[in-house]
Amino acid sequence: MKKVFAVFGNPIQQSLSPQIHQHFAAQHKLDIAYEKILSDEQDFSNDVSQFFESGGIGCNVTAPFKELAFAMCTELTDHAKRAQAVNTLYKNDTGALCGHNTDGAGLLQDLTANHNLSLKNKHIIVLGAGGATRGILQPLIDQAPNRITLINRTVEKAHALADEFSDVFSIEAVGADNISTDIPPADLLINGTSASLDGKLPIANDSPIINSNTVSYDLSYASEPTRFLQWSKERGCKQHYDGRGMLVEQAALAFTTWNAVSVSTDSLIRNFEALKTQ
Ligand code: ATR
Repeated sequence: MKKVFAVFGNPIQQSLSPQIHQHFAAQHKLDIAYEKILSDEQDFSNDVSQFFESGGIGCNVTAPFKELAFAMCTELTDHAKRAQAVNTLYKNDTGALCGHNTDGAGLLQDLTANHNLSLKNKHIIVLGAGGATRGILQPLIDQAPNRITLINRTVEKAHALADEFSDVFSIEAVGADNISTDIPPADLLINGTSASLDGKLPIANDSPIINSNTVSYDLSYASEPTRFLQWSKERGCKQHYDGRGMLVEQAALAFTTWNAVSVSTDSLIRNFEALKTQ
């Protein structure tokens, strides 16, 4: 019988998850259905329950429901607990709803396996202090960087998020309008703000946090380079990546969670643009 999966979001039309998961399923000759489900805040919990009651095996959750999904789980993986957000749901053997978060590990897989980067002893600067940043901090810390600087427009939010991780790493919190020249340029600069969605740069144009040796990474992806990636190029960065690799890798980790098989991601990332026409 066909295994049924889905992704919940709002909006959801733009999601490429069905094509990505069908690609993984084809690698193992698995016959799956993967639907896009539009929900809203009031109905989300019921919609998810109904999905599992009608035989669904697992689902992904995207904006704006990751925190709601987190709140409705009876079991959570460590990554989900740290992120306080869930992007992968499934039922365990006893029928309990389990929540996992593969976003941070997906980013890490893209950085280390696909782009061959080591973060050990490096200086990582992350822009933004919202849910996207919370989801990636623990996997970054696990790579034993030398320094993590969190820069946000609203400095209080940067402090609050840094505090959440103070048991495992001393993250330096800085306001975007008050970046001291004592902060050296990043080895890895990650844009975790939602500014790219509005075509905006989340930091001052002449900000000293970047130089030609910085690797820049935007968690967002778009057909055209984001404003942040354009700026990185203008500032001389030789390595600049958008979030397509992370998107594919987080999906691969969700697929493996549900189906207990590993999948190959290379050709999908290389031919990412073609996915949109499938
Ligand atoms: P997400 O779940 O995508 O992280 P969020 O929790 O709303 O969304 O967080 C959005 C982040 O992007 C915040 O860090 C926000 O900065 P503030 O905390 O100051 O609001 C940041 N952000 C959004 N638009 C921005 C812009 N134009 N310039 C700089 N930062 C921006």
